[in-house]
Amino acid sequence: EQCKGINGLDKVVLREVRGSSAEVYLYGGQVTSWKNDHGEELLFVSSKAPFKPPKAIRGGIPICFPQFGSHGLLEQHGFARNRFWSIDSDPPPFPTTSSNKAFVDLVLKHSEEDTRIWPHRYEFRLRVALGPGGDLMLTSRIRNMNTDGKAFTFTFAYHNYFSVSDISEVRIEGLETMDFLDNLQNRQRFTEQGDAITFESEVDKVYVSTPTKIAILDHERKRTLVLRKDGLPDAVVWNPWDKKAKAIPDLGDDEYKHMLCVEAAAVEKPITLKPGEEWKGRQEISAVPSSYFSGQ
Ligand code: BG6
Repeated sequence: EQCKGINGLDKVVLREVRGSSAEVYLYGGQVTSWKNDHGEELLFVSSKAPFKPPKAIRGGIPICFPQFGSHGLLEQHGFARNRFWSIDSDPPPFPTTSSNKAFVDLVLKHSEEDTRIWPHRYEFRLRVALGPGGDLMLTSRIRNMNTDGKAFTFTFAYHNYFSVSDISEVRIEGLETMDFLDNLQNRQRFTEQGDAITFESEVDKVYVSTPTKIAILDHERKRTLVLRKDGLPDAVVWNPWDKKAKAIPDLGDDEYKHMLCVEAAAVEKPITLKPGEEWKGRQEISAVPSSYFSGQ
């Protein structure tokens, strides 16, 4: 169902029969809400997000393309998150979700203006789907449409902002013992020590070549969010903590306590596509109740 969202921006609402739902703004091709079948919101969106182009929406699932972070010459996180996407009337077959009706296909193509900052022709097709159990699946297909024979290279992330009860009570499992590049220390490489990852200060790390499954355990909410990824070797973990949060105008001073970004990404090794070639990157997120914590 297509309707108007905040400030008259177009959005699509997906509903699954058992009650879960998701909202996708055409601006940014951005998921801004994902609710389980009890109507509980699982994503974080800042109360200060103005929903005003050309600024990206602070929260939900921004798409970072064709550049993650400042790993290149483009604006931070690339331009896909502040472009108007279209509904894709001619999507390619997506075998894994074809029987599911709760999905939307979006597309972003090169524009005259963008080829001045990134001189390539491309088609980026994004499917957002809700599974029968309320799982949220995002599939991106990016194709090089250059007619001048040139390959292009990009980095990418699904910049997931998860809603958490209290950042100090949350932990991540699946990244322990992994190598990471620390954005707070000139992207130097370190190896994660110890058990699960917990939070007591600012974190901005790119874990490289991680397992495909990562869990975010929220003890207070008696809930675990499970992220599964495919084609996306890396995982970014970001929380700005108090000082950085104050410096971000579209984030409330205390909101860092209730958000955690765990992003499925391809950052360390950029992806190169020759003309006609297509890349696919997929993530699936599900919310599992507290019984998961038994024995811990
Ligand atoms: C994270 C980056 O993915 O996004 C951080 O690792 C960055 O370095 C954060 O600060 C937010 O970026 P932005 O551009 O949305 O403020």
